Amino acid sequence: MWLKALELRDFRNYESLQLFDLSPRVNIFVGQNAQGKTNVIESVLMLAVAKSHRTNRDAEMIRFGGETALLQGMVERDNRTYKLDLHLLQKGKKSRVNGVEKRKMSDFVGHLNVVLFAPEDLQLIKGGPQTRRRFLDVEIGQVSPQYLYNLSQYQKVLLQRNTLLKEIAKKEKTEELLSIWDEQLCVYGAKVLQKRFEFVDKLEGFARDIHSRISGGKELLSFRYVNSFDWTEGQDAADRFFQTLQSKRRLDILRGTTSVGPHRDDLEVRIDEREVHTYGSQGQQRTASLSMKLAEIELIKAEVGEYPVLLLDDVLSELDSERQLHLVESMGERVQTLITTTSTYGLEQFMQEEAHVYRVDHGAMSREG
Ligand SMILES: Nc1ncnc2c1ncn2[C@@H]1O[C@H](COP(=O)(O)OP(=O)(O)OP(=O)(O)O)[C@@H](O)[C@H]1O
Ligand SMILES: [Mg+2]
Repeated sequence: MWLKALELRDFRNYESLQLFDLSPRVNIFVGQNAQGKTNVIESVLMLAVAKSHRTNRDAEMIRFGGETALLQGMVERDNRTYKLDLHLLQKGKKSRVNGVEKRKMSDFVGHLNVVLFAPEDLQLIKGGPQTRRRFLDVEIGQVSPQYLYNLSQYQKVLLQRNTLLKEIAKKEKTEELLSIWDEQLCVYGAKVLQKRFEFVDKLEGFARDIHSRISGGKELLSFRYVNSFDWTEGQDAADRFFQTLQSKRRLDILRGTTSVGPHRDDLEVRIDEREVHTYGSQGQQRTASLSMKLAEIELIKAEVGEYPVLLLDDVLSELDSERQLHLVESMGERVQTLITTTSTYGLEQFMQEEAHVYRVDHGAMSREG
């Protein structure tokens, strides 16, 4: 699928923007800081999911002094055109698809699929384990409601178990009560664990190819799911989990918290067998987190049947010119890409031949070349 046209009125620093000539392949938005590059990316994200990655308050996106903001997009998918309208009001928002009002936002969302890579996503590699667990949970959740159910059950039981552990330590409750929670924790925990394993396996295949392409075939990316109790595929996960819980029981009571389980797991990312978190250069960390996100594109394709639109905000800085070129070329082949940058140094050749280039200047845009 691809975004044919985008129109904005009173959105962020755009009083009025009309883009009727987007390329189904690569579109580069170039400009100095604070000109409105990320604002354009944000507007496309809004049309896709009706939520911003920068704020929870929709009214914040209405241009200073404006009353309401209007976002419109034309999406081509399955040989059909969809006209999307999103109207941001001081209180609430309204949406239409092909002129028909959608009263529930969930009926509006999903006509346009996007994958966004924003500078914050670098935390995927740099951040702590909880960042990577969250990544897994969000990505798996998008394609498996069953997973979200099992995960929320797990978290509920975990909370109850932890409360009970503290009560046992204070001698308010007896230890026997733990067994009920332990059993349930293991049932849901095993399901969460197995789904994550499966997903990481699938993701690795895609991410490895992408990483290899961006690095010019020089680097091998691999993942390892690190589980907090001893289990290998083929074994009964619930059983292994249960045994570990029993052996850690004393410790858990002492600490008042559950020391093993999927809530303590991590995803290790390696380049050429070395952990990127510890040993990777800035550029390698950026490339690796990018490859992880870009792998989503293939997962969505497998799920939805069409490639989503790729939004790359500020990813070029910190990639050398060779990686920049490989990235833009390999993505543009298959996927419509909207990419922002402050400098197109190194991309000149490519830009003249293949990409649409827009110069962004104080909330105004002009096509170059
Ligand atoms: N509601 C709003 N109304 C008007 N202007 C706004 C609004 N919200 C943000 N802005 C302005 O938009 C500008 C920032 O735009 P944006 O984040 O798109 O910049 P950018 O081009 O991505 O810059 P950088 O290269 O630094 O990332 C700021 O100058 C900010 O004041
Ligand atoms: Mg920006």
